[in-house]
Amino acid sequence: MNQTFAMIKPDAVERGLTGKIINRIEEAGFTIVAMKKVQLSLQDAQNFYAVHKERPFFGELTQFMSRSPIVALVLQKDNAYSAWRDLMGATNPTEAADGTIRKEFGQSIGENATHGSDSEENAIAEISFFFSQFEINR
Ligand code: CMP
Repeated sequence: MNQTFAMIKPDAVERGLTGKIINRIEEAGFTIVAMKKVQLSLQDAQNFYAVHKERPFFGELTQFMSRSPIVALVLQKDNAYSAWRDLMGATNPTEAADGTIRKEFGQSIGENATHGSDSEENAIAEISFFFSQFEINR
């Protein structure tokens, strides 16, 4: 069993899709070991996405991610990070496979409903960005 970091982004929270996405997560066999709803400041979003700071979409991405609350989760499952990326689908919803969360709920490459860590190493870093060890139920 291992853990990954997942986020329901502002577009999906604003549209009232939190419950539907959590349902998809649980139906796929993940255990939610931590969860909270928080609003990122622009600085928080810039820190979280620092790896993308040279990208042309960095300003748009960080404005979007800080415009309204997000739901942060820690998910547990065998091969958690790749299983969650499979369930989300491709970054661009128009390229995401049928049955994936981004295909169903994503609206654009930026407003694509969910985020997931892209490696086990980043999962550890992103989990600790949002959660203390006392907030994770083992
Ligand atoms: P995420 O998995 O959260 O990681 C980085 C995010 O950058 C990615 O999902 C996309 O939502 C966003 N992103 C990637 N490419 C673009 C783009 N061309 N324009 C706007 N946002 C983008």
